[in-house]
Amino acid sequence: MKVLGIDIGGSALKGAPVDTQTGELLAERCRIETPSPSTPARVAKVAGEIARHFHWRGPVGIGFPGVVMEGRIMAAANLHPAWKGVDGVKLFRQATGCRVSALNDADAAGLAEMRFGAGKKCRGTVLMFTLGTGIGTALFHRGMLFPRTELGHLPWKGREAEELVAAAVRKKKGLSWHRWGRRVDEYLQKMESLFWPDLIIIGGGVSARHENWFRYLHLRTPVVPAKLRNDAGIVGAALAAEMVD
Ligand code: BGC
Repeated sequence: MKVLGIDIGGSALKGAPVDTQTGELLAERCRIETPSPSTPARVAKVAGEIARHFHWRGPVGIGFPGVVMEGRIMAAANLHPAWKGVDGVKLFRQATGCRVSALNDADAAGLAEMRFGAGKKCRGTVLMFTLGTGIGTALFHRGMLFPRTELGHLPWKGREAEELVAAAVRKKKGLSWHRWGRRVDEYLQKMESLFWPDLIIIGGGVSARHENWFRYLHLRTPVVPAKLRNDAGIVGAALAAEMVD
């Protein structure tokens, strides 16, 4: 099946046609910055531009940075508040003119890693974390997704974990890799003590630079970077179309 995967992020929307059997991108990806303010109408318009860029007529899968239930957006911490309650599938269908399925961005990236990447051989419990503008999480056991975990919002030192640990915080606060790495370590240790995973996969842009900070992690669980790197979100978004059909 060929599906246009669109990964909506806090800083950019990225899309490419994907072969869902192999997980390969069938064309160079198209990246457009997330509009500010990131209202539903403006973000949907950009999704429409990506579909038009590829002259797309087939199915579209959307990876959305928030809670998606039956196509409806329930929460989106790092986008405009107007997203709450929006029928996301309907909105993106109107914007792209195509059949649309949608799921959470981290669940999408996790599905891609479990099928084609770092989690392929792991039948036990796998936790995936995407570190970017926020923290996205995906939980698997025996290859099955337990959807919509929002562990980035764990109460943490009087705040929410993603406000202190997301990759964007390192840049914004000018933290060294060491300082930020130790924050991630502490957070992951907490996750480890609650879920006892067999494997932890780290995605998001910082996973490509893991040699800068993985050495500050002191976990019992093996920690590996996402194999599909930044494409995990696009490939996983495309897999959404299969799940719904
Ligand atoms: C959202 C999650 C999302 C993550 C990464 C969090 O703020 O609540 O749903 O997966 O950011 O985009």
